[in-house]
Amino acid sequence: MLALNPKTYERLVRPLLFALPPERAQAVAEFALKRPAIWRALSPALKARAGGPCVKLAGLSLANPVGLAAGYDKNCELLPSLAALGFGYITGGTVTVLPQPGNPKPRVFRYPREESLINALGFPSRGLEFVADHLARGRAGCGEVPVVVSVSGVSVDAIVRCHRRLEPLADAIEINVSSPNTAGLRAFQESAALSELLQEVNRDRSKPLFVKLPPYANERTARDGVVGLARACVDNDAGALTIANTRPYRDPRLAVGSGGLSGRLLLEDTLRMVADISAEFAGSVPINACGGISTGDDALRALDAGAATVQLLTGLIYRGPGVAKQINRELAVLRHGGR
Ligand SMILES: Cc1cc2nc3c(=O)[nH]c(=O)nc-3n(C[C@H](O)[C@H](O)[C@H](O)COP(=O)(O)O)c2cc1C
Repeated sequence: MLALNPKTYERLVRPLLFALPPERAQAVAEFALKRPAIWRALSPALKARAGGPCVKLAGLSLANPVGLAAGYDKNCELLPSLAALGFGYITGGTVTVLPQPGNPKPRVFRYPREESLINALGFPSRGLEFVADHLARGRAGCGEVPVVVSVSGVSVDAIVRCHRRLEPLADAIEINVSSPNTAGLRAFQESAALSELLQEVNRDRSKPLFVKLPPYANERTARDGVVGLARACVDNDAGALTIANTRPYRDPRLAVGSGGLSGRLLLEDTLRMVADISAEFAGSVPINACGGISTGDDALRALDAGAATVQLLTGLIYRGPGVAKQINRELAVLRHGGR
């Protein structure tokens, strides 16, 4: 029970997990998270006290503004347990149409001092049908916690297929056009191509759609390019923008040589991008701030910069299963002195 507290997790559990290679540690965490009865029993201790204002996001009602980002539960096998951890919403995926193994290993490394990670997973996925089956069975176990599913692919047809199949089983779909580890995705980092994709998705859409954008980085996704992508999303009625994905980064230890940086090293860039895009669109589209958030202070800075919600993944790995509750508690103290 005590290990649910981030301080205790950091002292007692994290050293054991971090003694293992990252993907092995993730397998241990998944083993524990495949036991939803345990997490449901622990849920009262993992949820922030009710009574905070309900957050509206593209028509969804969230108990709090702290979401789980895509990539932790790639195949939607852990959703009922993740929903018990006190998040305002959880994102499964990214899902691809066909099963695929992802990139060769090693493909994840930690930077512990910086509370950051690099990954070059490259969308390992069990494929659309496997995920649809788990989602259909797991959704009810998530109760009131909205479930977003992230989908991707290297063609309009592939993304539309994922959207059509999974939308009825989820509360919202997030289209990921921003992973740095899949070269084919770059086609959608051009606003005309993204517009075309969103028009096709919109032909048969009945639930909110989020689009996850790349960070301001290289020439293709420099600031103006990302603003152009955001405009394509707004023009095509996206319900929210998730800003942003990991930052492209080289590490020669990775089998493929480069990947995406996540965690604390991203925080200041995330805050700058959120403030900039929020000002550019005068707050007309909700923003999910994603990148480097792991404390109440980080979350408050993102919300003050114009975000409607925050999402995190690396913070869960570094601070453990109590991270959402802790952030919400710290947020309440920062905003209202804990009242
Ligand atoms: C191991 C790992 C796997 C990820 N997989 C995905 C993914 O499948 N789809 C996606 O949109 N983002 C993925 N991401 C990116 C995260 O969702 C998030 O955008 C990024 O890590 C920044 O947030 P953070 O600093 O809170 O981790 C992944 C990140 C990590 C560290």
